[in-house]
Amino acid sequence: MEIQATSSPTNQLSELNPDLRSVQIQDFEDKLQDRVVGQGRAVRRMSDLFQIYQAGMTVPGRPIGNLLFLGPTGSGKTRLVEAAAEVLFGDSNAYVKIDCGEFQHSHEIAKLVGSPPGYLGHRETQPALTQEALDRFHTDQMKLTLVLFDEIEKASDSLWKLLLGILDKATLTLGDNRRVDFSKCIIVMTSNLGGGEISRMMMGTGLGFATAQQKYDSPETDDFVYRTALDSAKRKFSPEFMNRIDKVIVFRPLKAEHLSKILDIELSYVQQRILNSQSDNKFVFHCSEAAREFLLKEGTDPQYGARPLKRTIERHIVFPLANLTATKQIGLGDFIKVDYRSHSNRLVFLKAREGAIIHAPAVQTVSVESTAAQVAVPTTADAAAEEKPYVFPYSKLKVQ
Ligand SMILES: Nc1ncnc2c1ncn2[C@@H]1O[C@H](COP(=O)(O)OP(=O)(O)OP(=O)(O)O)[C@@H](O)[C@H]1O
Ligand SMILES: [Mg+2]
Repeated sequence: MEIQATSSPTNQLSELNPDLRSVQIQDFEDKLQDRVVGQGRAVRRMSDLFQIYQAGMTVPGRPIGNLLFLGPTGSGKTRLVEAAAEVLFGDSNAYVKIDCGEFQHSHEIAKLVGSPPGYLGHRETQPALTQEALDRFHTDQMKLTLVLFDEIEKASDSLWKLLLGILDKATLTLGDNRRVDFSKCIIVMTSNLGGGEISRMMMGTGLGFATAQQKYDSPETDDFVYRTALDSAKRKFSPEFMNRIDKVIVFRPLKAEHLSKILDIELSYVQQRILNSQSDNKFVFHCSEAAREFLLKEGTDPQYGARPLKRTIERHIVFPLANLTATKQIGLGDFIKVDYRSHSNRLVFLKAREGAIIHAPAVQTVSVESTAAQVAVPTTADAAAEEKPYVFPYSKLKVQ
């Protein structure tokens, strides 16, 4: 079909707005922002690529996008890919992950691409990177695959060769000569090269800035973080590799306000685990402000990002709650308030109220928002009127 450009009859041209986002893209971006805290730029790059895919404007014979995520450990690089999978497919594991650390020796590449016919074990080795493996999460609406090469700096030379081909031509040839097409993939590679240096600088042992807050927010710091990570990457990786990357995204070290939000997100995941569990003891818990502060204090280690916070939640919330459930001190429908006692410097668990209404069946998909929709706790006024249960806004609820 031939398309001819014609001028409008009135010769009036109206200016369009290329920054306007479709409802679907905005929704995708908002949901990522809800899950990944303090990494706005990375979230936007991810949704830009999703937009290119949605508009059908991908470059033929290339992946939808090749992204390199750099930055400190525990800052959300892997989490962003999981969150994108969660939003697109309702499952945080719906992506293909290659831990480059597992393929440090050339012979281990056979696990990815299979051995050529005739080699010992040829039939037994099922390659991990087949077309079926890439397409297995596709749905009728979503024919896109997220592929994550984690800890790319650990890759062996043979993995590099393979990767260069994928990034450039979106194809991979398996041991038995089958071809795998990566043109519907967003390829994300992560590395924490330069991350240690960035964290040290942000925590005050590096360049001297006035206060922590000023230090974090200043354009100089922004520039320093970006350059440090990029320089480390350029020193480590070959120009051929760097040339194939569409965008290098440097994740920022997390500061206190981010950890506070992550705490709420992680606590809501614990609540969901309780509600989704197979046990009959589904209950609702809430942390007082003092308990939150205790968890934040215990779980903040600037060198390691959000990981220590997650461990602290497991140790101080999940284990004790599991114990209380196993010993039947907590039962179905209980409402547990977690508070902090300063004289003993520990958390205490108080059964504030019995008979919270827990709607069954439990939620299937993992999502922060769904927690609020599934749990209902009666307020004093509502307790008698069960037909109008109060919807439980987990992260906002304040118990006196
Ligand atoms: N920005 C963030 N927003 C929300 N949660 C986060 C964020 N950063 C880290 N987390 C939490 O910490 C966990 C570990 O983070 P993640 O695996 O993304 O680290 P990473 O940046 O990939 O680090 P590494 O370089 O060591 O692999 C995540 O599973 C998530 O629960
Ligand atoms: Mg990671």
